[in-house]
Amino acid sequence: MMQTRTQVGIVGAGPAGLMLGHLLHLRGIDSFIIENRSEEHVVERVRAGVLEQSTVDLMHEVGLGGRLAAHGMRHEGLYLAFGGARHRIPMAELTGGRAITIYGQNEVVRDLIAARTGTGRPLRFEVEEAGVRDLASLTPSIRFRSGGRLHEVACDFIAGCDGSHGICRPSMPADRVHVYERTYPFAWLGVLVDAAPSSDELVYSLHDRGFALFSMRSPHVTRLYLQCEPDEDIARWPDDRIWAELTTRLQTSDGWAPRAGPITQKSITRMRSVVVEPMDHGRLFLAGDAAHIVPPTGAKGLNLAMADVWRLARALEAFYRSGDETLLREYSGRALQRAWRAQRFSWWMTSALHRAAADNDFDYRRQLADLEYLVSSRAAMTSLAENYVGTPME
Ligand code: FAD
Ligand code: PHB
Repeated sequence: MMQTRTQVGIVGAGPAGLMLGHLLHLRGIDSFIIENRSEEHVVERVRAGVLEQSTVDLMHEVGLGGRLAAHGMRHEGLYLAFGGARHRIPMAELTGGRAITIYGQNEVVRDLIAARTGTGRPLRFEVEEAGVRDLASLTPSIRFRSGGRLHEVACDFIAGCDGSHGICRPSMPADRVHVYERTYPFAWLGVLVDAAPSSDELVYSLHDRGFALFSMRSPHVTRLYLQCEPDEDIARWPDDRIWAELTTRLQTSDGWAPRAGPITQKSITRMRSVVVEPMDHGRLFLAGDAAHIVPPTGAKGLNLAMADVWRLARALEAFYRSGDETLLREYSGRALQRAWRAQRFSWWMTSALHRAAADNDFDYRRQLADLEYLVSSRAAMTSLAENYVGTPME
């Protein structure tokens, strides 16, 4: 067996694991990152697109704001569409200038991998049989197989950044962990389209046929989603059916509609809310989707992952600087506070904008009344705006 040592072993090279590795590097703390998928898969997979103000600020603070500044699309408002009309929420005006930036998660990951590679610190893709051991001791370790050989990395701490299907959370003793969960009776069918976005800002739509969302990735690429059945078979959605449904659900009476073009990617995402409490066990700390999953309607998942690792890096820095474990002990409680706030918001956005099979016409009219109120009240719009653009990390 090949044996190595590091300060922080990181399982998972998604946004959480890679950003944690970079934050630790900037503080002179060594880490070893392992990832079970290939580099190409991690970079290419199509996921989030909305960065909160604090995530944008963090990318700049850690010296990775160059491509984001050049290619990110800052949005100071968003639209809610219902009853055939679009209503703009002026987010920046309502939040003292905070905004969101459209920049694909895969671009964030690309920037973080380039930074990691530049440091020369270890980042291993395509590892197999990863496992974590001795979590309650002062010397936890990670084992994995790579290049046909078994490896063991002795660590001071392990960061479980391995997403919703990882191995770290299941390694915590079941009787010490409580998992809060809710599944939603629908999913999202998402498409990437080679077409210039026909709106400068996102459009979230409630239609009596269900939810639809207009988003984008660049001045040439539109990203669209529509609510579908949770067990939907993507084969039942040829392109013309997707366009008919998207157009019906999104078009407004002022003549606006998404611009059509070739669909280059299609996928279905089921929707759930999950929170794992606590987010630590001994010297294992969970971060990102490994600890909590939000339905994508609030665009919070990636941003929560970034807030977790910002907090964790600060706590590890305090430990290595002075041996003080206070921030490490506070990590789970503080991170959960933010996670529950994001859960509440994401659940609310989801409930406000989707039609559930169990709902009747009363529920639909109530949803419309809710949205009518929202767009007519500065207080209600401010509440939406401040949650959507996100609060500072602290
Ligand atoms: P992940 O990105 O899942 O990374 C975990 C990594 O760990 C993966 O690379 C995985 O391969 C690896 N791994 C797993 N098991 C192992 C193992 N055993 N050994 C080694 N490595 C392992 N969020 C937003 O903020 N805004 C949005 O607009 C948004 N839109 C979304 C749209 C869709 C369609 C989807 C699916 C998600 C969206 N999200 C959004 C959520 C966001 O993508 C996630 O919250 C984010 O990826 C979390 O990052 P993470 O690093 O915690 O986990
Ligand atoms: C996206 O662009 O992928 C996106 C935007 C807003 C969301 C979710 C996803 O709420």
